[in-house]
Amino acid sequence: MSKNQWSSKLGFILAAAGSAIGLGAIWKLPYVAGTNGGGAFFLIYLVFIIFLGAPLLISEFIIGRKTQKEAISAYRSIAPNTYWHWIGKLGVCTSIILLSFYSVVGGWVVNYFLRSLTGSLSGLELKEYQQLFGTIISNPTQAVAAHLIFIFLTIIIVQGGVQKGIERATKVMMPTLFVLFIFLVFRSLTLEGALEGVRFILMPNFSDVTSKTFLFALGQAFFALSLGISTMVTYSSYLPKGESLPRSVASVVGLTILISLLAGLAIFPAVFAFGFEPTEGPSLIFTVLPAVFNEMAFGSLFIVFFLALLLFATLTSSISLLEIIVASLTKGRNDLRQKKAWTAGLLIFVLGIPSALSFGLLAEFSFFGRTFFDLLDYLVSNFLLPLGALFVAIFIANKLTKEELYNEMSQGSSITFSIFKLWYFLIRYIVPTAIFLVIVLR
Ligand code: PFF
Repeated sequence: MSKNQWSSKLGFILAAAGSAIGLGAIWKLPYVAGTNGGGAFFLIYLVFIIFLGAPLLISEFIIGRKTQKEAISAYRSIAPNTYWHWIGKLGVCTSIILLSFYSVVGGWVVNYFLRSLTGSLSGLELKEYQQLFGTIISNPTQAVAAHLIFIFLTIIIVQGGVQKGIERATKVMMPTLFVLFIFLVFRSLTLEGALEGVRFILMPNFSDVTSKTFLFALGQAFFALSLGISTMVTYSSYLPKGESLPRSVASVVGLTILISLLAGLAIFPAVFAFGFEPTEGPSLIFTVLPAVFNEMAFGSLFIVFFLALLLFATLTSSISLLEIIVASLTKGRNDLRQKKAWTAGLLIFVLGIPSALSFGLLAEFSFFGRTFFDLLDYLVSNFLLPLGALFVAIFIANKLTKEELYNEMSQGSSITFSIFKLWYFLIRYIVPTAIFLVIVLR
């Protein structure tokens, strides 16, 4: 990817939204909300997205767009001869770990998609959907092969510089995904017994809230917005000056919130209507959604579309994870891109194998009381992302002057000084304090 590669401002927003919207809001959010009390978790997650996530996203965009450099060099260019560039290095390491297990779940989506093409996902009993999921994740050959296919697709897109094509495709695929979700929500809400699910997700019950709820909601908010690992620094470094950052942030945050709500409203009413447990865990969307499609006219056709779109949304996130790694290795030298993409991608594949086996062969092995997959997810979501975000907040408030920040923020849009002041107050005081408290008090 060369400098200024976004074909337009819309291209940038689509790519950033593509990075944000993926398994986080669609697969992870429902299951983590389901196991952490439902509505209250959802509400805290939304508050974190708006008051911590959005100001941080603006910050990462400022750092990237101002320096026009990939994650590590960006910090170096603002604060030369200091240790601040370690934020970028931390981000790259976190990306490697994150992608290694993200790709395992991406593999499950590949597996489901291939099955949907043969029609074998339709017409099953509820129990059979659960059994099918069990087989897909626990069979070592299937789990590793699917993980390999997924990482392979990611490498091919990143190494070939076909992002332009992806950018164009995103314009069609994202809106289609939204429309399909609206159908799903409608079908789910009209199932008998759906109301209890609506109550579960929209009516917060604060008696279930513990300090862990805050930690998980924070991790989930950062995960869903691709924050804390400088992906968005790298992406915005390809953005020409003169574009309005607050407006781009509003679009990315707005779309992420919308898809989070749609996912919740598609899944929980059906969970209750079918008598599934909201606490089912990682299997939640993979067992519930095929069952909802089963209840739809032309369901076996719609599910093919849905899984293709989900796979696409997952790939637009995974390419952003690999992109930050490759960009930091090539530092703008396009001749190295292909080699580095393959080397990094294959390394990540190998690192992901224990995660792929965590639901079968290695299910009994526990590392600090968790499977390997859970351990990496826990480490990334609840520690590394918040830590990276905390450093970004401290960095931006201390290493750039108020004037520089205001200049960056007001380019391309006439934001009022009071909006700037609000953002500055949040990023300087509220964001670091909140993250610190959540991590320490968990
Ligand atoms: N935001 C992506 C999702 O919700 O699926 C995951 C992700 C991508 C996290 C890129 C972090 C990142 F840098």
